[in-house]
Amino acid sequence: MNNEQQKIIKKVANEVKQKLEGEESGHDWWHIVRVWNMAKHIGKIEDADMIIVELAALLHDIADWKFYDGDDTIGPQIARRILEKYSVPAKIIDCVCDIIADMSFKGAGVKTEMKTLEGEIVQDSDRLDAIGAIGIARTFSYGGHENRPIHDPAQKPIMHQTKEDYFKSGSPTIKHFYEKLLLLKNRMNTKTAKKLAEGRHRFMEEYLDKFFQEWDGKI
Ligand code: NI
Repeated sequence: MNNEQQKIIKKVANEVKQKLEGEESGHDWWHIVRVWNMAKHIGKIEDADMIIVELAALLHDIADWKFYDGDDTIGPQIARRILEKYSVPAKIIDCVCDIIADMSFKGAGVKTEMKTLEGEIVQDSDRLDAIGAIGIARTFSYGGHENRPIHDPAQKPIMHQTKEDYFKSGSPTIKHFYEKLLLLKNRMNTKTAKKLAEGRHRFMEEYLDKFFQEWDGKI
């Protein structure tokens, strides 16, 4: 990456930090930092175009569709405005906005395929942050934000077939593990992410085992 590109990354990072600092729903600035770092790590191994990877990682949650009544066009629009302000070349803006539009998880039965390697890397990095120890913390934090119970034994997991159904579901948080988090390991795109996902997945399974043992009063 050249000097000019590095300057752009810095400016965009600053702007995102200002906007997302203090967010409490699990899409805060530190989530962006983790995804950004992971995307840099995977991007280098996979030999990707790093300006696109880094910008998309930084801007991917600038307006999460789940907080705009299911409108998934807001994120790319805001990202475009920011990138135009810093005179990023049009071709790069288009790539980054395409990635942001395509990448979020919209239900077990809804396909979200990425068109580019750069998109696959950012999607993988975002999904890695949704599983494992951090994923567990973020899931309960989000559940609290949405006033959801942690667990309801009467409610069985639902594999949502449309984005609308997934968006409307008010699942208890434990159910969300089965409707999203445990499905992510098999949805990783890159080899590097697949490997990383295994350990994080196993940890969640161990966590759930423990959770149910304690729930049932067995330990
Ligand atoms: Ni994210």
